[in-house]
Amino acid sequence: MIGTGYVGLTTGACLAFLGHSVVCADADPHKVERLRGARVDILEPGLPERVREGLEAGRLEFTGDTAAAVAEAEVVFLCLPTPMGAGGAADLAAVEAVAGQVRDVLRPGCVVVNKSTVPVGTCERVAALLGRADVSVVSNPEFLREGRAVEDFLHPDRIVIGAADQDAARRVAGLYAALDAPLVLTDPASAELTKYAANFFLAMKLSFANNLAVLCERFGADVADVTEGIGRDPRIGPAFLRPGPGWGGSCLPKDTHALLTVCDRSGVDFPLLRATIETNVAHQRRLVERVAAACGRGAEGSLHGVRLALYGLTFKAGTSDLRDSPALAVARLLRERGAELTAYDPALSEERPDLSDLVDLVDDPVRAAEGAAACLVLTEWPQLRDVDWAAVAACMSGHEVHDWRNLLDPDVLARAGLSWRGIGRPAAA
Ligand code: UGA
Repeated sequence: MIGTGYVGLTTGACLAFLGHSVVCADADPHKVERLRGARVDILEPGLPERVREGLEAGRLEFTGDTAAAVAEAEVVFLCLPTPMGAGGAADLAAVEAVAGQVRDVLRPGCVVVNKSTVPVGTCERVAALLGRADVSVVSNPEFLREGRAVEDFLHPDRIVIGAADQDAARRVAGLYAALDAPLVLTDPASAELTKYAANFFLAMKLSFANNLAVLCERFGADVADVTEGIGRDPRIGPAFLRPGPGWGGSCLPKDTHALLTVCDRSGVDFPLLRATIETNVAHQRRLVERVAAACGRGAEGSLHGVRLALYGLTFKAGTSDLRDSPALAVARLLRERGAELTAYDPALSEERPDLSDLVDLVDDPVRAAEGAAACLVLTEWPQLRDVDWAAVAACMSGHEVHDWRNLLDPDVLARAGLSWRGIGRPAAA
């Protein structure tokens, strides 16, 4: 396993759990040292346990030496970052660098599996970089949600394997034989596109839900009921229809932009994709205008001298990941208007990222509300329901709670003397 990010580490630890012998390599010696002691730095339920079991059973090892890790391997997984690069395209530098490092040390007849999310054609590109006729390159995209990665790995909806060499495909499928999941065996281009198409579709559903919420507000309808009404149709499905402060995270933004670049470069017009991205940006602008208006500054007005409390900064609940978080995007828009921001996030109390140019991060929700004209709920942390809202109300300068995750109970807030405003739902009576 090359790369021990949340995909590589989950895949490595779970394959060891399924009985395989796994060596995980990472370029960061500090991380390798910590993992050797079963210390997992990402918030991923079940992962530390799987890592510890694997180490104890002798089926899981960690090394900083990529060449040593692949020398004996029958299958080599590339689980490397493919961040947003120039012009929104996926940056393949890490994948290409590792292909160069391993080409001369790969065992004859081994299979190289690409798990990283990569543009169509990357399997072929890696095969060309390896230049080894005796090594097959296979695409096997991951569909792991952060915060549920172990569960998603062990109970997948499907396993997608794209290979030109059917024997290599069967060997990779064999690694997952203990899992009860439908297998989609296809060619590399289809497997690579499947991953982008999945994340694009999810983002499209979310942009739809966020716009639908605006429409509901216009007519006094309730988006929760409308989405339940449509979601019960199995052709639509209930998931990914909860409105929020826009979609984000380490994958959806980067993958939709990368796919857009793929479309542009290949001359394929896909207006829905562009609209999905633009809708997200417009949605966040609209929410900020709503706060400015509620603070009496007018939708376009400056927020200088206005203090706001932000509840939740991570891109969703259950993770400490801030990458491309919609909460941070909203915070940036508010800062651009001059607002002073104090934030509380239950996942950021111990390990404190440096966000000082954007927000004042505190470890107590009531402290975050001191002098605040309004509170904004940006991440759906369930523990926010248990905040002492009367204490919050007592130290705020205003009385509005903008609940952009539709998380809180309006009656509870009303009893604390606060007024609740959700997204796409009628305001409390
Ligand atoms: C996403 C996909 O769900 C995974 O299938 C995929 O494997 C992964 O990207 C990846 O490409 O590696 P993840 O980034 O962990 O997983 O996050 P999601 O749970 O998909 O959430 C994405 C964003 O949508 C978050 O900001 C979340 O708060 C938002 N969201 C999600 C909503 O606003 N409403 C919803 O109903 C669901």
